Amino acid sequence: MAPEVGFPQRRMRRLRRTPALRRLVAETRLSVDDLVAPLFVREGIDDPVPISSLPGHFQHTVASAVAEAKRLVDLGVPAVLLFGVPATKDAEGSGAWDPDGVVQRALRTLRDAFGDEVVLAADLCLDEYTDHGHCGVLAADGTVDNDATLERYARVALAQAAAGADVVAPSGMMDGQVAAIRRALDAEGHEQVAVLAYAAKFASGLYGPFRDAVDVRIAGGGDRRGYQQDPANRREALAEVALDVAEGADVVMVKPAVTYLDVLADVRRAVDVPVAAYHVSGEYAMIKAAAANGWIDGAAVALEQLVAVKRAGADFVLTYFAGEVAEALGG
Ligand code: PBG
Repeated sequence: MAPEVGFPQRRMRRLRRTPALRRLVAETRLSVDDLVAPLFVREGIDDPVPISSLPGHFQHTVASAVAEAKRLVDLGVPAVLLFGVPATKDAEGSGAWDPDGVVQRALRTLRDAFGDEVVLAADLCLDEYTDHGHCGVLAADGTVDNDATLERYARVALAQAAAGADVVAPSGMMDGQVAAIRRALDAEGHEQVAVLAYAAKFASGLYGPFRDAVDVRIAGGGDRRGYQQDPANRREALAEVALDVAEGADVVMVKPAVTYLDVLADVRRAVDVPVAAYHVSGEYAMIKAAAANGWIDGAAVALEQLVAVKRAGADFVLTYFAGEVAEALGG
């Protein structure tokens, strides 16, 4: 017998009874259209090198990056985000804006191969290219010099745009970076290149596997707390986002994703521009490691987390699961 109630009982389980009913009333859907796949291209290698902390991912040659992009495009993934690993690094990170730098070569080759069939985004930062591993150039006191860094970011944006990027994605958390990049792009006739701003990027312990992937070690055991956000701060993320939108960001991003769903929900309510989330390397690696031990069902947890990221407000997600999830969704 049903429990005694004073009104016709609302039976919540009615709409959960069959897969078709659940499908009908789902509030959030994850589609292949929501996925952006990060790709690493490394200079000076003949074969792709597996990244042990990101199982299933590689430092690619330009040729193997094209093959991987082809696989992703065939699965329906609409966009890739490129990161470069240069053969040599210097104090300024000059490889980042070298017209023959590895990301610029990859962009040109991918554009030739795919035309407009895939969105080509490029991470815009210096840390992969500096010998000290910071996201900008250093002042005499060893701190990152904000405005001197902006000047370099403008050069990187122009090199990436000239090589065929649809989207540049500044990730260094310098003040004024979106404005500096937008101004440089517009001045050189690249009005159509969009800026995806890493707007609320937190100083997270979850970037460890990524730093292996791009061979970055921060000099002297340093960290990025002087420019990335403090994980304790929620309101501050809205200030960062408001500045980036005012400076001309076309899309704003929250990063990492699952640890910052509150921030993502706040940002979604605060702005009209598309909102992205970066499900980062550590988030991927944790799932892969637990799954490899048989402790969780990795595929199920990946889908659950990516749906949660969408539920919190993301329009799309940068994720190392892009290929796998596209396959699972029947791509
Ligand atoms: C900086 C950059 C980082 C990531 C994306 N862009 C590393 C950092 O800020 O230390 C991290 C991505 C990830 O962990 O998946 N160029």
